[in-house]
Amino acid sequence: MIKELNQHKDIIKIVASDPLRSECVYRKIVLHPIVLKNKQCFQAEMLENAKIFHRNIPSDELPEWVCANVEGRYKQILISMRDRDITYLTSSKGRVTRLEKAVAAKNRIVLSNNRQKNYILNEGDDVPAMIDLGIFTKDRKVVAGMYDKFRQINRFVEILDDVFKNYSGSLTLLDFGCGKSYLTFITYHYLTNIRHLNAKIIGYDLKADVVTHCNELAAKYGYDNLRFEAADVSRDKLYDEHIDAVLSLHACDTATDYALKFAIGHDVRYIFSVPCCQHEVNASIANGGGDLDVLLKYGIVKERVSALLTDTIRAMLLEDAGYNVDVMEFVDLAHSPKNIMLRCVKTGRPSSKNSEKIRALAEKYHFNQTLYDLLNK
Ligand SMILES: C[S@@+](CC[C@H](N)C(=O)[O-])C[C@H]1O[C@@H](n2cnc3c(N)ncnc32)[C@H](O)[C@@H]1O
Repeated sequence: MIKELNQHKDIIKIVASDPLRSECVYRKIVLHPIVLKNKQCFQAEMLENAKIFHRNIPSDELPEWVCANVEGRYKQILISMRDRDITYLTSSKGRVTRLEKAVAAKNRIVLSNNRQKNYILNEGDDVPAMIDLGIFTKDRKVVAGMYDKFRQINRFVEILDDVFKNYSGSLTLLDFGCGKSYLTFITYHYLTNIRHLNAKIIGYDLKADVVTHCNELAAKYGYDNLRFEAADVSRDKLYDEHIDAVLSLHACDTATDYALKFAIGHDVRYIFSVPCCQHEVNASIANGGGDLDVLLKYGIVKERVSALLTDTIRAMLLEDAGYNVDVMEFVDLAHSPKNIMLRCVKTGRPSSKNSEKIRALAEKYHFNQTLYDLLNK
C-alpha cells in the first residue's frame, strides 16, 4: 500500500470501509485530495454513527497517516488512482489480498482545487429546505447517514450546471419519482437562487403523504414555482404544456421507462435519468441458444447483465428518437451502485436503426422491456 500512497499526486480517493477491529471509532473513512491555502492536502471524512468529522492532512504525511489510522483496520480499502483502482481486502485473520483494475483515465475527474468549491451545495450553505429534508443538521453540516445522497444530488446538479450555466430565459422541468424530493429542491434552488432563471418544476410521486409534505415545504420557503403532485407516472395525466427537461433519479424499475417515453412523446429537449431496480428484463430473460446464454447461468451475473442490457436498450431507443445520448458514470460506485446516468439532448431526427436489433434480441431471449413496448405499441 505504501507504494500507492507515495504516488499521492495520482490518488483521486481512498475509501476504507467495514472496520475489522472493535476499537475502530469510525465506520468509514473517505479521503479526497484538496488544495488548502495553495497547499496540496487530503481531506479525511470520518463517519462515526450519526456524526461526521473532518481532518486535513498534508499530502506528504498521507502515507504515515493512512498506515496509522487505516491500514489493517478495515476489511476493504479502495485506492482510486488516475488510471486504476487498487483494493486491499483484509480477512479477520489478517490475510491481505490486493486487487488491481485498470480504469480509463478519461473517466476520472482529477481535482486540482479544493473539492468543496466544485460543489453546488456545500456544507454551511444557507438552504433551509436541506435542514427540513434531513440532508443538513441544524448547524448546516451534512447528516452522516445522508452523505451518499448529498453527493448524488450535488453531482446531479453539477451535470445540470454543465448544460444550464449559460442558459437564459425560462425553464420547465418535470421530476419523475421525486420521492422525498432532495433532488427537486436542490435543483429548484440551483436554477432560481444560483442561476436566477425563471424555473418551474413539478415533481411526481405515488406517495400522497410525501407529496403533501413537499408542497408544504415549498410553500414554507416561498418556492412559488415548485410543486408536487401525487401521480402514477405510468397512467395518470401529467403536465401537458412545453417542457424543457425531464429528470429521474432512481425512479423504480419501469417508472424510468414511463419518464423516458413521456420525454420522447413530448419532444423534451433534455433528459437526465439515473435508473435503478431494473427488474423487468431479469424477470423475463431466458436462454435463447446464443452467446448471451453464458451470462444467464448465475443469478447475480444475470441480474447485473439484465440491468445493463435494460439501460443499453433505453439509450439505443433514445438515439432512435433523435437524442444524443451519453451513458455516463453518475457517482462513484462507492457512493451508489445505481450509478449510470443517461444524459440526453434532442439534436436529430427520429430513425429506427436500433429498434430492429432490439426486437430481434428480445425475441431470441424472450424478455420484455417497457420502453421498447411503449414505443412500439
Ligand atoms: C428510490 S425512490 C427515489 C426518490 C428520489 N428521486 C431520490 O432519488 O431521492 C423512487 C421513487 O419513485 C416513486 N415511484 C415509483 N413508481 C412510480 C410511479 N409509477 N409513479 C410515480 N412515482 C413512482 C416511488 O414512490 C419512490 O418515491
